[in-house]
Amino acid sequence: MMLHHHIFSCVLVSFSLFVAANSARNDDFSDLRGPYCENIGCCNDRIDSCSVPILGTLCYCDEFCNQTRVDDCCPDYWSHCRGITPPPPTEAPPEPQYGCTYGNRALRWKQEVRENCNKCVCEQMPNKQLELLCETNVCLVEQSIIESVNREQEQYGWSATNYSQFWGRTLDDGVQLRLGTLPPQRFVMNMNPIKRNYDPAVLPREFDSRDAWPGFITGIQDQGWCGSSWAISTAAVASDRYGIVSRGKEAVQLSAQHLISCDTQGQQSCSGGHLDRAWSFTKAYGLVDEECFPYVARNERCPIKRRGTLQQAGCTPKFSDRVARYTVGPAYRLGNETDIMYEITRSGPVQATMKVYHDFYNYNSGIYRHSNFAINDKQGYHSVRIIGWGEEYTYKGIQKYWKVANSWGTNWGEEGYFRIARGINECEIETFVIASWPHIHRKVLASASNHF
Ligand SMILES: *[C@@H]1O[C@H](CO)[C@@H](O)[C@H](O)[C@H]1NC(C)=O
Ligand SMILES: *[C@@H]1O[C@H](CO)[C@@H](O)[C@H](O)[C@H]1NC(C)=O
Ligand SMILES: *[C@@H]1O[C@H](CO)[C@@H](O)[C@H](O)[C@H]1NC(C)=O
Repeated sequence: MMLHHHIFSCVLVSFSLFVAANSARNDDFSDLRGPYCENIGCCNDRIDSCSVPILGTLCYCDEFCNQTRVDDCCPDYWSHCRGITPPPPTEAPPEPQYGCTYGNRALRWKQEVRENCNKCVCEQMPNKQLELLCETNVCLVEQSIIESVNREQEQYGWSATNYSQFWGRTLDDGVQLRLGTLPPQRFVMNMNPIKRNYDPAVLPREFDSRDAWPGFITGIQDQGWCGSSWAISTAAVASDRYGIVSRGKEAVQLSAQHLISCDTQGQQSCSGGHLDRAWSFTKAYGLVDEECFPYVARNERCPIKRRGTLQQAGCTPKFSDRVARYTVGPAYRLGNETDIMYEITRSGPVQATMKVYHDFYNYNSGIYRHSNFAINDKQGYHSVRIIGWGEEYTYKGIQKYWKVANSWGTNWGEEGYFRIARGINECEIETFVIASWPHIHRKVLASASNHF
C-alpha cells in the first residue's frame, strides 16, 4: 500500500511538471510512463534515436536538455543525468495560451472565424503561442474605400455604400462573376463607326428611354454570381429595340440564357463572352424569349437546336404571325458622344463596355468617376446598357452624365441604374458602343412605319 502510494506521487510530480510546460499540447496522457532517461540512458548530442514517445511528441535525454526553458526533455533528465533538481527557469515561462482573441471573443485552438472575405484560424505558432492567422484576399467591399470616397464625395461627385450581397466576397469573385465581358478582338475595335447626318445642337439636354418609350424598356436584371454581362446586355438592347421599333406590337424580353448556354463558340458562358460574337449569333440564329428559356445564372446545357423556328425550340410566339426566332441586323459601332446620343433618340438604348475599378462595386448614387483609391486593384470589363443622359448643375459647373442600366439587381445604385460622367470617356465607356436593328415582322413593320 505504501509502495503504491509512493509510485503514484512520483508520477504525479512529473505529470504536473510536464503539464505546466506543455499546457497547449493535446491532453492524451495515456503514454506517460517513467522513468525515461533511466531506461534509455543519457546521450551526448541531440539525436532523435535518443528519445522516447511522450504525449504525442518525443522527450530527450541528451545534452540538448542542458539548459533551462526546454520542454521536450524527459521529466527525469535533471535528476537522472545531472543528479540535481532542475535549476529554476531563467525567465518566466510564457503564459499558457488557451486561445486567440478576436475582438472581444476568445477562440479555441483551430477555431475559425470569417473576417469579411477572409478566413481566420486560431493556430499554434512554432513558439507554441496561439495566434489568429487570416487569409489576405482583397475583398469586394473594403471599408477603407467606402470611407475614402464618402469623405471626398464633393470631389468625386458620388457616394459609396456597403452592399450586403457583396460583403464577404473577394474582389476576384467580383471581377470573375459580376462582370463578364472579354475584350473585343482587334478587327472589331477597328470597325468603323457608322456616320449619321444630324445637327448636334438639336439633341436634348436630357433624355431617358423609359420616358420616351414607356413600357418597352427592359427592367433591371440581376446576373447573380455569373460573369454574363455580355449576354444580358445584348439580350436587353435587342429586346428594347424590338419593343421600340414595333411600337410595342412585338415587345418581348429576349433570353440571355439562350446566349449563355448556346452561343458557346469562343464564348465562356458564365466566365465571360465577346460582344461581337453575341451579336453575330443573334443575327444568324436569333434568340428565343425569356419565358421560354429563363435565366438561371449558370451554364445550363443548351436545350435548343441551333437553327429552327420558335416553335421548334418549344416556344410559343407572342405575336401570332411570328415564326422565326428574334434575329437582328449586323451590329454597328457608334463613334463619339453625340453619335451615341443621336442613336439613342432614334432607336433606343445601346450597349457599352466599361472598365470596372474596385470602387465601382460600392457605387451608391451620384455621377460616377473612378477614384484614385485602390486604383491598382484588379480591374475587369463589363457590359452595360446606356438608356439616356442628362446634366446636373454643381458648384464645379455643369456635370454631364450618361444614365446606364447595370445588371446587379435593383437594390444596387440608383434603383439598379447608375450615372457616369459623359464626354470624357470615363472608364472607356464611350470607346466601344454598339447597337443593332431588330428584324420586326413585316406585317408589324408595315403598320408601325406610318408613325416614323
Ligand atoms: C551544462 O553543462 C556544462 C558542463 O558540461 C555546465 O558547465 C553547465 O553549467 C551546464 N548548464 C546548465 C544550464 O546547467
Ligand atoms: C456590410 O454589411 C454586412 C452585412 O450586410 C455587415 O455584416 C458588415 O459589417 C458591413 N460592413 C461594413 C464595413 O459596414
Ligand atoms: C461626332 O462625330 C460626328 C461625325 O460622325 C461629328 O459630326 C460630331 O461633331 C462628333 N461629335 C463630337 C462630340 O465630337
